[in-house]
Amino acid sequence: MKVYQVQLVQRQQTLQHDNQQSLLENLEQHNIPHEYQCRSGYCGACRARLLKGQVSYRQPPLAFLQADEVLLCCCQVESDLVLDL
Ligand code: FES
Repeated sequence: MKVYQVQLVQRQQTLQHDNQQSLLENLEQHNIPHEYQCRSGYCGACRARLLKGQVSYRQPPLAFLQADEVLLCCCQVESDLVLDL
């Protein structure tokens, strides 16, 4: 299983992420609260700005996203990431 480094620049913190759970769940496990509503790609409440790295989605999310935004509830991490969090 591949483990990625997810750097949170505002918090100056780096998490390990293996895609066994969502990024949103990973943040919550580290007591880092982040907004959410649907947790399944519809509402866009969990969006975050991606400064570096690559994610993918199992299904194209319905929520509207800017080119540099990702949905923490449902994206798959594909490389080490730098997030504006
Ligand atoms: S919580 Fe609704 S899109 Fe992520």
